[in-house]
Amino acid sequence: MNELTKSAVLNSLKKLKFDGFDPNIITLNAIQSFEQSGDNLNIKMSFATQSNPEFLKQKFDEQLRKDFPSLKHINIDLQTRSISSNISKHSDPKKDSILPGVKNTVAVASGKGGVGKSTVAVNLAVALAKDGAKVGLIDADIYGPSVPLMLGVKDKPKVYQAENSVRMLPLENYGVKFISIGVLVDDKAPIIWRGPMASGAIKQFMTDVEWGELDYLIFDLPPGTGDIQLTLVQTIPLTGAVIVTTPQEVSLIDARKALMMFNRVNVPVLGVIENMSYFIAPDTGKKYDIFGSGGGERISKELNVEFLGGIPIDPRIREGGDNGTPMVYDQPDSEYAKIMMDISRKLTEQVNIRNSRDDNKIEIIL
Ligand SMILES: Nc1ncnc2c1ncn2[C@@H]1O[C@H](COP(=O)(O)OP(=O)(O)OP(=O)(O)O)[C@@H](O)[C@H]1O
Ligand SMILES: [Mg+2]
Repeated sequence: MNELTKSAVLNSLKKLKFDGFDPNIITLNAIQSFEQSGDNLNIKMSFATQSNPEFLKQKFDEQLRKDFPSLKHINIDLQTRSISSNISKHSDPKKDSILPGVKNTVAVASGKGGVGKSTVAVNLAVALAKDGAKVGLIDADIYGPSVPLMLGVKDKPKVYQAENSVRMLPLENYGVKFISIGVLVDDKAPIIWRGPMASGAIKQFMTDVEWGELDYLIFDLPPGTGDIQLTLVQTIPLTGAVIVTTPQEVSLIDARKALMMFNRVNVPVLGVIENMSYFIAPDTGKKYDIFGSGGGERISKELNVEFLGGIPIDPRIREGGDNGTPMVYDQPDSEYAKIMMDISRKLTEQVNIRNSRDDNKIEIIL
């Protein structure tokens, strides 16, 4: 018979599979208190889900009785939350005409390439979805799409003929809907797109894909601050941008350029995320600042934008990207997952602040 521990309860509940319920949303942290005496079990849980709490409680009760037959009394205090209703909408005529069901559009950008934008964009999207937000992700990197690999999807999207246009259904994994050039063209075929064609493709990703109702549509931008990026950020009606940098000076210089690019086109920068901030040696627990330290925070202060958080270097993050299992989903109790959840909540705060400023503007005009 199973020994009754907090982890055993978690493992038991994670076996549950039914429509609309994703067992990976339950983490050790979700079990806030755990008391067992004899054949009595009292647990208190809290997590984000769109499922009906009474129905969940019943399912949890059945599963625990099956795995721990000696239990006579099980009392589950379950608090569920959905952040969807707490996310405000960015009202903008251009956005509302192109993407009527989408509350907010957020670009994940960097000046320098290879700093971890796509990894951040994917894990951020999954983190928001884990908190109960409705999330979509557009891979705006036409030259080097990496979202399909990182989300572990090889399928092609379903395409159908609507009245006078061709419509496409987004693909979906880990609660995130997405589209990428990588799922539309063979990855062995060379993609010889030029700048204008790239922005044309992104426009189609917005107009021809059935996004439905979303709290966030996130854009994983290609690296750089050249003409292609400038055209792109003008094509997308953005609520705001998030800039990813590493702590080293060469990356910070390019992060400043990215910020200036967004300023030029009046897109608010919602915050800076520092990736590859430090490395904790798994054998000694010693912290190494491989790319220097504090750069992300410094640049946030200097440019007067929010610092959303610092992400460590961890080989599991890369493995998760290569295997199509985002670490925030696959290792929900890791330090990394906590950091990403925190960053995603700070982002929602910044989006809400930004949208309330827009409301103020309207009030002043009236
Ligand atoms: N914090 C991290 N720890 C370990 N590996 C990481 C981390 N962040 C990203 N990586 C790895 O670094 C590589 C580059 O990351 P990624 O593709 O996300 O960068 P990018 O900025 O999107 O690149 P590009 O500019 O080419 O679009 C990937 O192999 C990824 O798995
Ligand atoms: Mg990328």
